[in-house]
Amino acid sequence: MTVVTTVEDLRVLMKKRVPRMFYDYVDTGSWTESTYHANEADFKPIKFRQRVAVNMENRSLRSTMIGQEVAMPVAIAPTGSTGMMHADGEILAARAAEKFGIPFTLSTMSICSIEDIAAHTKAPFWFQLYVMRDRAFVEGLIDRAKAAGCSALMVTLDLQVLGQRHRDIKNGLSTPVKPTIHNLLNLALHPRWCMNMLGTQRRNFGNIVGHVKDVDNIGSLGEWTARQFDPRLSWADVEWIKQRWGGKLILKGIMDVEDARLAADSGADALIVSNHGGRQLDSAPSSISALPAIADAVGSRIEVWMDGGIRSGQDVLKAWALGARGTLIGRSFLYGLGALGEAGVSKALEIIARELDLSMAFCGHTDINRVDSRILL
Ligand code: GLV
Repeated sequence: MTVVTTVEDLRVLMKKRVPRMFYDYVDTGSWTESTYHANEADFKPIKFRQRVAVNMENRSLRSTMIGQEVAMPVAIAPTGSTGMMHADGEILAARAAEKFGIPFTLSTMSICSIEDIAAHTKAPFWFQLYVMRDRAFVEGLIDRAKAAGCSALMVTLDLQVLGQRHRDIKNGLSTPVKPTIHNLLNLALHPRWCMNMLGTQRRNFGNIVGHVKDVDNIGSLGEWTARQFDPRLSWADVEWIKQRWGGKLILKGIMDVEDARLAADSGADALIVSNHGGRQLDSAPSSISALPAIADAVGSRIEVWMDGGIRSGQDVLKAWALGARGTLIGRSFLYGLGALGEAGVSKALEIIARELDLSMAFCGHTDINRVDSRILL
């Protein structure tokens, strides 16, 4: 096996190990995928100022996100169906994050449930909330996150309607897998994945099945989800959620300065500049290009974070220099998870931390908290 030294190595390995439809679900954007690709590509032209002959000993990446200590300013992003990339995937990723000392965010659309994560980790995790039409169900999720000791609620604002991803439609993506001939043949090519999946009971949306009336099987679940994402979501709902939750609140999916001002006005603790990994509005700008104006406009009133396109520690450093006090990684950890399970997530985090640490040193800094836009050309 090749020696894994980059997040890209993990992607290549994941592609071999995970059935096609689930790999494709991760490695896709909406429509032409222009925003998906721009998220990565727009990091490349940003250049560092290299400094020499300054003391680079005793470096630290430690920082805080919404007041919580983090080993580096990176959190695991909420990603749907993570437990289909590897059996019990959310538990494994949460454990890797806990060991590393960074936050883990569980998606509403996860395979392992809120209670599963609480039972298998000690560190408090964050819960990502989708606003569904069924407000009683939303209330239930908020209450369950509270009962599980989650230390922040992350409300996703950019999925009132779903961006079309061609490959998911062509693959007939469903969780669990639809037994079409094509899918069955593809599963047969991934015996290790199948054996792992047979060894767990967690093969459906754990936060939903068993918690919603009439949803006790997959067929009705897909239909329920499509009907349930609420196209009427408003800032009044954000206020209502904030009241009911009563703890740290993070708003995800802000791409516009006007919306960023409203997010700051809402009293949330952090906002995430995010285009949902290029999976929603195709031809929206990349997250890294949208970040500076938003950080300038509201960075003094609310913590500004970003996600989208981060595949290296250099990317984290660029985002930090442009005003992000935190970043989130989705695909970068999923590649590791699909490739090597928990060890793969740990590997992705180690790779990113090492790249961040050394790049910071090359820029003449020893403490991430002192780094600002002056490291950029
Ligand atoms: C869900 O959040 C997705 O992007 O698939």
